[in-house]
Amino acid sequence: MLHLGILGSGSGSNMQSIVDEIEAGRLDAKIEIVLADVRDAYILERAAKHGLKAQYLDCAPWKTKLEGPAEDECIRILKEAGVDTVVLAGFMRIVKPKLLAAFPERVLNIHPALLPAFPGVHSWTQALDYGCKVAGVTVHFVDAGTDSGPIIVQKAVEVLEDDTPESLHARIQVQEHIAYPEALSIIASGKYSIEGRRVRIVDNRRR
Ligand code: GAR
Repeated sequence: MLHLGILGSGSGSNMQSIVDEIEAGRLDAKIEIVLADVRDAYILERAAKHGLKAQYLDCAPWKTKLEGPAEDECIRILKEAGVDTVVLAGFMRIVKPKLLAAFPERVLNIHPALLPAFPGVHSWTQALDYGCKVAGVTVHFVDAGTDSGPIIVQKAVEVLEDDTPESLHARIQVQEHIAYPEALSIIASGKYSIEGRRVRIVDNRRR
């Protein structure tokens, strides 16, 4: 069983998809703690609704990364909660080597693009502005770079002629909510290996 620590900044719809799979008995995992770097983030409310331990993590003075005392505090809280796998679910900060070293090959992120295209923010707008016909979502292990670690799951989403950033992001999110539980299910099974950049999955049917 995976012992998850979820880090988010916003609505928490990805966390919700993971909660739903766990509650339905389709994902062998337990959410040990939810942390948000935004005091009134809806992800904290969602967590409370499901009786999950959740708290605000003050990451000041940094705005875009998790470093310094906040990083130490984050690691302490995750370890104390018994977390073995860290799930970045709409966490809008760069995580640094200290957190990665505390959970080697056990920090996952979801990114709303078909990486390596469009790392960074507002990726769906970047894809639309670029004129892509296909966009999508990537779940990957986190490494020292930005949105650059080994890829676990990707899902493609067709770009429609009348798409707006909002409509495209909404359809990408539908796929996110399938992709994250699927990736976690692979990790929970242990039936994979990381060979360089490649994550080789022994049996990628849902368990
Ligand atoms: C998701 O679309 C996720 O892919 C994106 O933030 C959103 C969070 O939604 N993450 C990033 O852009 C990370 N670079 P949620 O709070 O409803 O899960």
